[in-house]
Order: sequence, then C-alpha cells, then structure tokens
Amino acid sequence: MEWSWCADSVKKCSGTKNNATELLREAREVMQKKSAYHVAVVGATGAVGQEMVAILEERQFPVAQLSLFASERSAGTTLPFCGREITIQPWTAESFAGIDIVLGATDGAISKKFTPQAVAAGAVVIDNSSAYRMAPDVPLVVPEVNGATLAGHRGIIANPNCAAAPLVMALKPLHDAATLRRVVVTTFQSVSGTGRDAMDELMEQTRSLLAFREVVPKVYDRQIAFNCIVNWQADPVTGDTEEETKIIGETRKILGLPHLGVAATTIRVPVFRSHGVSVNVETESKLSVDVARARLAAFPGVVVLDDPARKVYPTPLDATGQDAVYVGRVREDVSIANGLNLWIVSDNLRKGAALNAVQIAESLIRA
Ligand SMILES: NC(=O)c1ccc[n+]([C@@H]2O[C@H](COP(=O)([O-])OP(=O)(O)OC[C@H]3O[C@@H](n4cnc5c(N)ncnc54)[C@H](OP(=O)(O)O)[C@@H]3O)[C@@H](O)[C@H]2O)c1
Repeated sequence: MEWSWCADSVKKCSGTKNNATELLREAREVMQKKSAYHVAVVGATGAVGQEMVAILEERQFPVAQLSLFASERSAGTTLPFCGREITIQPWTAESFAGIDIVLGATDGAISKKFTPQAVAAGAVVIDNSSAYRMAPDVPLVVPEVNGATLAGHRGIIANPNCAAAPLVMALKPLHDAATLRRVVVTTFQSVSGTGRDAMDELMEQTRSLLAFREVVPKVYDRQIAFNCIVNWQADPVTGDTEEETKIIGETRKILGLPHLGVAATTIRVPVFRSHGVSVNVETESKLSVDVARARLAAFPGVVVLDDPARKVYPTPLDATGQDAVYVGRVREDVSIANGLNLWIVSDNLRKGAALNAVQIAESLIRA
C-alpha cells in the first residue's frame, strides 16, 4: 500500500484542511508541546491492547487522560488503569478530537478505518497492525535499532510484526560488527501472537484432549494443542505464508537493508506466550562466537543467556512478562566461511508489540 493512499484517506477525513501533509505535520507539533498527553488505545480489550494499558501504567507514561476503545461488543466493560476503572467505548469519527497519541491494537482492516480519522483529528497513531508497515513514507520502528527514522513521521508510525521486532534487535549488533549477508529464520510462535481467541482455543483444546473429548478447531484450521502448525494464506507465487512475507520485508525495512537475503519459515507451537526464533546468519567478515556474544550483550534491550556447560539458554517461560530480547545458543556454523547460529526468545506481547509501541511513544515525547 502506498503513502498516497494514507494521505488521501486522511484528506477525506479532514473537514477543514485540504493539504493532508500539512495536517500531519501539525499533529506532530501539537504533541511535542505537552507535558502530559491524552492517550487512546484502540483494541484495548485484546491481547496487545490490555498489555499496552498495563505498560503505560508500569512505565509511568505521562498520561493526562486515557481513552479506551474496542468494538460494540465490549462497550461498557472496564479495564483498570492507575487505580481507576476506565470504561471501554466504541469509537466514532468524533472520538479522536483532543487525543494526542493513539496506540492501535486492532487488525489491519479496522486500523485502515480509524487511523486516517485519528490523524485527521490531530493525533499521532502508533499502529500494531500490518496495515501501514510497508508503506514507504511510514516509519516502521524498533527504537533501539532505527529510532532515528521517527523524525520523518507524518502522523502514522508502524510497530513491527512480533517475530520481526526481536529478530532485528539481535541482527543489528551483528550487522554493525560484521555486515549481514544472509539470514535464515525459523520461528516457533506462541498462540498469543494470533490474539486472545487463539489463547482460549489452546486452553480449550488442551482441556478437551486431556478429558478424551474431540476438538473442533476454530481460530486455526488444524488442532494446535499437542501440535505444531502453519498459519496458511500463502503467497501463490513464492509459497511463503503471510507471516513469512512480513518477517522478510519488515526485517529489511527496519535494518535499512532492502537487498538483504532473508529466508523465513514460521511455525505456530502450543505455547501460550513468547516466541522462539532460530536464526542462521552469514556475515561478510568473520565474527567469533565470543565477539558475537559480547556485541549482543552490549546492545540495549538484549540479554545473552548462553552457557552450554551449565545448560543455560532462554525459553518462552523465561521471557514471558519480561522486556528483554534473550539470545542464547550462539554457535559457529562451520558449514560456511562466516556463519553463526543463534536462538532468540522474546515476549511477543511486550517487545513484540505493546512495549515497543510504548517505547516509540516515549521516543516521540522525548524528541
Ligand atoms: N498478539 C501479538 O503478539 C501481536 C504482536 C504484534 C502485532 N500484533 C497485531 O496487533 C493487532 C491486535 O492483535 P491482538 O493479538 O491484540 O488481537 P486480539 O486479541 O484479537 O484483539 C483484537 C482487538 O480488536 C478489537 N476490535 C475488534 N473490532 C473492533 C472495532 N470495530 N473497533 C475497535 N476495536 C475492535 C477487539 O475488541 P473486542 O474485544 O470488542 O472484540 C480487541 O480489543 C493485530 O493487528 C495483530 O496483528 C499482535
């Protein structure tokens, strides 16, 4: 999708302004002048949205007012924030007046409806869906890796895919040390990456199977409990699934390496939370295991858990509820001249989604 689509949509939503670009610039200036912000979460009742609300409180983001939106289904329910219960409302075109920052946590189709309206109303939207990630003029940001690209935002900032975000956190220090040539990625993704309904499905299927009852898959097209599956929707030409295509494109965009060789295979595993990613890296120059570990450990937000002698390596249970991207099993790949293998684990709802979005908002208000 092209930026012109975003600009046209914003223009349509703007009652008084004709120049969409001018309107988007103003949105950024308004936000920078304040000491506390009117923040909204759209999709607040979902897996990512609930985590966003919790992280805003936990990190003491300067919130003057918090508005929480979801579908009609959730209207009137509440979520706790800073000792108060905030009522969930359905959003309308008028909902975004006076809001500075919108954290989007809905699917892409819904984001394409509310985002232009929010930007036209003067907000900056940090969107977790894939709707705008590959739009050329929309920054796709992991602050530790390419935070500088935020300076070019025009009202919409995209938050990456939940496997791409931790992946680039580990790739960036390796690239800076030895220049990436090719990356081969295999993911072991938890069901929370598909959202709240998929977590319920894993729980229900597990219970049913342990009670010798039959299961009927609803969210996924195969049984996920006690299984490993592929989320279909494959590209008819490449055969890559949508998730694989996202990881390839987003990794290149965030690292600013449009021609980097990236191959991805994504697998959904019966784990509730936190994704594992197996990575094989080929670099232009030789990088020893010790130097790679040191570079990774020095990178902000990365923690190396790697001591084979003591069987230390990260697991999804270790990462759940944590902010860090954990890296272990750093080994030389002796099958090529300059190769390394590594294993990354990160909480998909935190660095893979909500935490990264709040960190983007923090970078914006610091700018
Ligand atoms: N889960 C992850 O690890 C992860 C990571 C990175 C990015 N993302 C992306 O983040 C987005 C949210 O994912 P999720 O996992 O949180 O999904 P989810 O658990 O299924 O939550 C979806 C949210 O969207 C809301 N919603 C549905 N229709 C709506 C409408 N018409 N207006 C406003 N809100 C509406 C739902 O509200 P109701 O409760 O009212 O139905 C719910 O709050 C997706 O685009 C996903 O691809 C997810």
